[in-house]
Amino acid sequence: MDHMEDHVDDGALDFRSGTPVRFAFTPDVEADTAPLWEKVKARITPLEWRAHAPLIAEINRLKREKDAVILAHNYMTPEIFHGVGDYVGDSLGLAREAQRSDAQVIVQAGVHFMAETSKVLCPDKRVLIPDLMAGCSLASSITAADVRMIKARYPGVPVVTYVNTTAEVKAETDICCTSANAVQVVEAAAAEWGSDRCILIPDEFLARNVARQTAVKIIAWSGRCEVHERFTAEDVRELRSAFPGAEILAHPECPAEVIEAADFAGSTAAMSAYVLRRNPAQVVMITECSMASNVQADAPGTHFIGPCNLCPHMKRISLENIYSALAEDRYEVTVDPEIALRARGAVQRMIDLPPPSEPARYDLVKARHHVDVELI
Ligand code: 13P
Ligand code: SF4
Repeated sequence: MDHMEDHVDDGALDFRSGTPVRFAFTPDVEADTAPLWEKVKARITPLEWRAHAPLIAEINRLKREKDAVILAHNYMTPEIFHGVGDYVGDSLGLAREAQRSDAQVIVQAGVHFMAETSKVLCPDKRVLIPDLMAGCSLASSITAADVRMIKARYPGVPVVTYVNTTAEVKAETDICCTSANAVQVVEAAAAEWGSDRCILIPDEFLARNVARQTAVKIIAWSGRCEVHERFTAEDVRELRSAFPGAEILAHPECPAEVIEAADFAGSTAAMSAYVLRRNPAQVVMITECSMASNVQADAPGTHFIGPCNLCPHMKRISLENIYSALAEDRYEVTVDPEIALRARGAVQRMIDLPPPSEPARYDLVKARHHVDVELI
């Protein structure tokens, strides 16, 4: 990396908090982070790297000093995902890792509901989120009062809640799910409750996609992921005609027509596993933009084609505010102990189900049969 040798510059500045965060890109930092640079250089420019590398080195030092781990979601930018994430993965994987970790401090490089889930599962740990405004349109689509209303309307029907919800909402529900296990959870809940119906909230599109995979009748709420709802079947058709050899992968928070038109649908971890296992020459990932950048680092032989949409909430998390979270011990995520206890029951019931041998995929042959869901 000739152009980077002997170069010392200012490092990074946290514009959000106004705190200057400056570390030099010294020869030592350059040498220590060289293997990482090799991995991410297809997606990060040398100029960006000179700002990222000193922060990565400093964050990794602070983690050891503070007995902290960083749980990084698949939608984090590659310098976070590959540079400082101790555990990376989908919502289900991160929840499991939170529980397994011995560290005293968890820094959630993801959105607020993920940090709450970590706190609910690990009440004795200090859980930090680098930006308290990192929300989620699904989590804000439903309240605990809404769930109480739903339960009163459908007595005896099990309530399955997507983890993309607040702890208060989880506390009102029977069992949680993620996109990696939603079909399994719905079927387990229906069997345990002796019901032919199941309430699956709040993502309408996930509920419709699950309904096509199971004989259990699904009652849904009209929440949407603001990132995935924007993709259309027309987008998929246009991509197919422009890139006939490309394999098209989609997240189940997309509308059912998008899933029908795709080649594969699954959670973020399932999409990643699909690419790493099959090494396709060309891939389209119909999901958040950082997914492709992160998988690219481990799949150099695959060419990733757009489109993608940015999640504005995930993108609030940066190396700069992760550094500030560790250095200044902020922002702590707390959950009322009584709420946490009830929410933990719902999350733990999900975790206690036998883990799938690989992240569940959505069977697109079944998906081509239309199934009605009841929308509350
Ligand atoms: P995964 O559970 O697939 O990681 O998805 C979480 C999410 O927020 C997707 O938008
Ligand atoms: Fe929420 Fe969608 Fe962002 Fe995931 S991508 S955090 S579901 S808004």
